[in-house]
Amino acid sequence: MTVAPTAPLSAGEIASLVDRLASEIGADHPDGVTVVGVLKGSVFLVADLVRALSVPCTVDFLSLSAYTPGERRVRILKDLDRDVSGEDVVIAADIVDTGLSIRYAVDLVQARGARNVRVCALLDRPARRILPVPLEYRGAEVGEDFLVGYGLDYAERYRNLASIIPVDPDQLKADPQSFEGLVFGSQGAVSDRKARD
Ligand code: IMP
Ligand code: MG
Repeated sequence: MTVAPTAPLSAGEIASLVDRLASEIGADHPDGVTVVGVLKGSVFLVADLVRALSVPCTVDFLSLSAYTPGERRVRILKDLDRDVSGEDVVIAADIVDTGLSIRYAVDLVQARGARNVRVCALLDRPARRILPVPLEYRGAEVGEDFLVGYGLDYAERYRNLASIIPVDPDQLKADPQSFEGLVFGSQGAVSDRKARD
C-alpha cells in the first residue's frame, strides 16, 4: 500500500494509524499473534496496538544496542523472555530507518524458530534504508527530518510527547532540553522551574 509522506503527526492521526495497523494484523492472525516490541521506542506503539487488536496476543520485548559506525554490529541488551518457537510473531518498531536494528530482530526471532515473522512499523523512512526489511504493516512514510514524540527520543527526552514532531538536531545537540518548554508548556520548562525553586 502506498502511503504519502507525512509529519508531524497529531495524537489523533497516530491513533488512526495504529487502529489500521491493528486491524491489518488481526485480519492476518485470526488465531492469535505474539507481538515483540523493540525497546524503548516501541513501548507506546505496542501498548496502543495490542489494545486495539481483536485477536488473542502475547507481548514480549527485545532491547538492542543502537547501531553506531564505531560499533560494527548490533548487540542484544535484553533478550526475549519467552520461547517463540512455532509462533506467529509481529515485531513492532517506532520507525524503520537504516533497517539495521529491525533486520537484526527479524533474523533473531527467525533463528528462535518462530513459524512466521512479520514487521509492523508506525513510521517508515525508506530514503535512509541500508538493509532491506520486509515491512508488512506500515503506518506512514516520513522524510529525512529528525522526529521526536510517541516513543521517539533525542538523548532519552521527548518520548512522552503524544504527537510526533520534526525538530532541529543541531539545536538539540547544543541543548537537548531546548524544545521542552515549547512542547510541554510550563510542565516542560525544567530549567525555569529549577530557577524558581
Ligand atoms: P534503524 O536500525 O536505523 O532502522 O534504527 C531505528 C531506530 O533508530 C529507531 O528505533 C529509533 O530508535 C532510532 N531513530 C531513527 N530515526 C529516528 C528519529 O527521527 N528520531 C528519533 N529516533 C530515531
Ligand atoms: Mg533513540
